[in-house]
Amino acid sequence: MWVYEEVVNGQKLTEIINTQHENIKYLPGYKLPENIVAVPDIVEAVKGATVLVFVVPHQFIRNLCKQMKSAISKRCRGISLIKGIDFNESGPLLITDIIKSELNIPISELNIPMCALSGANIANEIAAEKFCETTIGYENQEDGELMKELFHDDMFRVGLVKDVPGVQVCGALKNVIALGAGFCDALEMGNNTKSALMRIGLIEMQRFAKKYYSNVKLETFMESCGVADLITTCYGGRNRKCAEAFITTKKPWHVLEEELLNGQKLQGTTTAKDVYLTLKKDNALEEFPHMVTIYRIAFEGLPVERIVLDI
Ligand code: NAD
Ligand code: 13P
Repeated sequence: MWVYEEVVNGQKLTEIINTQHENIKYLPGYKLPENIVAVPDIVEAVKGATVLVFVVPHQFIRNLCKQMKSAISKRCRGISLIKGIDFNESGPLLITDIIKSELNIPISELNIPMCALSGANIANEIAAEKFCETTIGYENQEDGELMKELFHDDMFRVGLVKDVPGVQVCGALKNVIALGAGFCDALEMGNNTKSALMRIGLIEMQRFAKKYYSNVKLETFMESCGVADLITTCYGGRNRKCAEAFITTKKPWHVLEEELLNGQKLQGTTTAKDVYLTLKKDNALEEFPHMVTIYRIAFEGLPVERIVLDI
């Protein structure tokens, strides 16, 4: 397991993980199996690997791919657990496509494309071995089955869908809708209001996916990566928590990230901004009123009450 090296309590994080078998900074209180070895050098970590599991905050992925490119085995295949999306001048870019293009994996030679895994999967609940489901999106069934074999067990049930873009759009956009849920909680509007915002958010997630990826399946939104992840994130996620504090404390996002997340990263704010800029460029703001309101409250000082008044 490649680990971004940091010094925690005067000791290197990789050394702590390898001696105490616990990631005391990011997953305190849960013992890791002893066959997991933390490696600070990414080239060493990926050398000879035939399956790579990508799970870092999405802003770091390009730089990491550049560093590991020279060591990638020709037989390598990958799966992304990253919930984010990137954008360039021509529109949204899936993280799996960024990984493929940055690593230049000769897909045609290998015929093994990237899969994507996403679901209602709050990390410490999984670490506590509480039951959950997840969704793996694949391009061809064999790859999906292989990845399912790697991840599935009784307490972590994998569902398969032939829809790599759908899984990833769900994982990225639910983080934006969760900001709206946090705003709603700050207003103490209660469960009915939050459910209404989540329902409308889900519709906009589908609309966005269809607009930019015509082959996305609407059934994907009924899987764990869709409606279930939206629910868990809007009730128990970090994006929700920071959005509520953004209103109640009036502190800027970067301060809240620092104060509330202890080094963990907020994904929804960057995604909200990127989605807004893309929709604006495509003259599509009117089709996504809820996500636009969330962006404007988060970045343009729109009064938070508009989260409800704009419905
Ligand atoms: P995080 O938000 O907790 O961020 C901390 C992680 O970022 C640490 O592993 C740290 O080592 C790494 N990091 C910090 N600086 C870095 C740098 N410069 N370069 C590379 N890595 C650096 O991370 P997370 O919660 O593990 O999230 C990773 C991905 O998994 C995200 O896309 C997230 O949406 C997704 N995800 C998270 C959860 C969850 O409950 N935490 C659940 C499902 C999916
Ligand atoms: P947050 O990043 O908002 O904590 O969401 C975690 C998650 O993706 C749960 O499935």
